[in-house]
Amino acid sequence: MMTVPDLQRYKREGRKVVMVTAYDALFARIVEQAGIDTILVGDSLGVVVQGKLNTLSVTMGQMLYHTRLVAGATQKSLVIGDMPFMSYQAGKEEALRNAGRFLKAGAHAVKLEGGSAIIDCVEAMTQVGIPVIGHVGMTPQSVSQYGGYRVQGKEQQHATQLVADAKALEQAGAQAIVLEAIPASLAKVMTEQLTIPTIGIGAGPHCDGQVLVLYDLLGLFDDFVPKFVKPYAHLKVDALQALHRYKEEVEQGTFPSDSESYL
Ligand code: KIV
Repeated sequence: MMTVPDLQRYKREGRKVVMVTAYDALFARIVEQAGIDTILVGDSLGVVVQGKLNTLSVTMGQMLYHTRLVAGATQKSLVIGDMPFMSYQAGKEEALRNAGRFLKAGAHAVKLEGGSAIIDCVEAMTQVGIPVIGHVGMTPQSVSQYGGYRVQGKEQQHATQLVADAKALEQAGAQAIVLEAIPASLAKVMTEQLTIPTIGIGAGPHCDGQVLVLYDLLGLFDDFVPKFVKPYAHLKVDALQALHRYKEEVEQGTFPSDSESYL
């Protein structure tokens, strides 16, 4: 079974951390069966499961529901619950209570977006034994401030700020940090300067691990495919073919045949 301390052990041993998202029991089991170390119950479910334009409307109740499904279906993978927008931004106490609810739902750690603004929350959580994964760079909960999903840290001043944020998260006790949509050269510097693992998504090859949204990786979600996504399968195409054949066979009366009937 993968545990929280294993994240840093992997970095010490030069072993990559492999993470994908999952939101339900069926896919969580498949991910675990594939030997994937870490499952993120991401608030990306707002987009890929709920069909929203962004993650902002996702609630604690919804995240806890999906975390329970994933945690209940897995035994070996490390399950990380993604704290949704406004579940930690309004104050340390509320953040702490909400983080605790994720652990009660079966998560082994929580993930929060942001840098210096959330250091107090991260400290409070780690002090009471709630493991935290940070997330800096292009943080989707700030999409309104960015005016869209854009690569972050291209200017020197912003890059310096992101390095400082990551170091502050490490000092506050974060166990790992997701780096999203930043230049590969900046992710390399951050990876070298931190003792905790960096887990990249659109942050190049030098990170200590990688994370992708499961439905992007499987080629199921094609509404918006960022440059950093590599579809390792084309399940939407397969699903469409299967459904077209099913429709055709029902219409033509060739399904069900004797082999699918009780004779
Ligand atoms: O919500 C999510 O799935 C994420 C990953 C893309 C890192 O935050």
